[in-house]
Amino acid sequence: MNLKDKVCIITGAASGIGHGIAKRFIADGAKVAIADLNMDAAQKAADELTKGGKGEAMAVEMNVTDEGLVNKGVEAVVAKWGRIDVLVSNAGIQIVHPMQDFPFNEWKKLLSIHLDGAFLTTKACLPHMYKAGSGSIIFMGSVHSKEASPLKSAYVTAKHGLLGLARVISKEGAAHGVRANVICPGFVKTPLVEKQIPEQARDLGISEEEVVNKVMLGDTVDQEFTTIEDVAEVAHLFAAFPTNALTGQSLVVSHGWYMN
Ligand SMILES: NC(=O)c1ccc[n+]([C@@H]2O[C@H](COP(=O)([O-])OP(=O)(O)OC[C@H]3O[C@@H](n4cnc5c(N)ncnc54)[C@H](O)[C@@H]3O)[C@@H](O)[C@H]2O)c1
Repeated sequence: MNLKDKVCIITGAASGIGHGIAKRFIADGAKVAIADLNMDAAQKAADELTKGGKGEAMAVEMNVTDEGLVNKGVEAVVAKWGRIDVLVSNAGIQIVHPMQDFPFNEWKKLLSIHLDGAFLTTKACLPHMYKAGSGSIIFMGSVHSKEASPLKSAYVTAKHGLLGLARVISKEGAAHGVRANVICPGFVKTPLVEKQIPEQARDLGISEEEVVNKVMLGDTVDQEFTTIEDVAEVAHLFAAFPTNALTGQSLVVSHGWYMN
């Protein structure tokens, strides 16, 4: 099972988990489009990753909530490499507020990046995958696809929604050789999580140390953060898996925080 010469698009790959998945795929010989809002960071990541790996990277400017930019970005990848084998819909943000104070515009912003982003990127990639008769779509879910936490109404709603979307794509895509999966990580130390530590301390009225040790790691088996490498390994498994046997499944990667 390897990704040599497979053409992959990873959204939000200029930073954090998406960047780690790009690194893992390129180490295996894949061609990876680093699709991100932040074009300078995407270009920097693409240059560095191409230097270090067996595969190669290109940077693509993409706001995943903008249908025109998503379609343009996907077409740029097809123009360069001729096909799309793997989509990792990973771009995401976090916004935390108690439900009664959650500004409606922030609710809509979060849902749009996670859900419209997954919808638009999948919709743009599927015709290319159907034409080839194969493909893998991977959504970045979360333990919050299965579990709830205070302050995270928008995020928990969005991440639960991705499970449903992956199941529908599994059923529609099977006849065309297209698989869909969701990865559900626990807390991973990326900019998205670093930002939440002081915010949660403020909203929950506890110290930052308590946020880390109790809220984030309290239910793990080893008090360890999930690593970017843990998540990238699972992404590689789903992307390279040779049959439909795992399609529609979600896998929790959380050091035992959530078991199902
Ligand atoms: N870090 C965690 O603990 C954790 C846990 C579970 C799931 N996740 C999920 O993993 C994914 C990546 O998170 P991360 O922790 O690596 O975050 P991150 O902030 O390090 O990276 C997110 C990337 O997405 C990009 N992005 C944001 N909005 C975008 C948009 N509209 N269009 C295109 N790109 C956009 C950002 O520029 C950034 O490069 C998210 O979906 C997040 O919900 C993270």
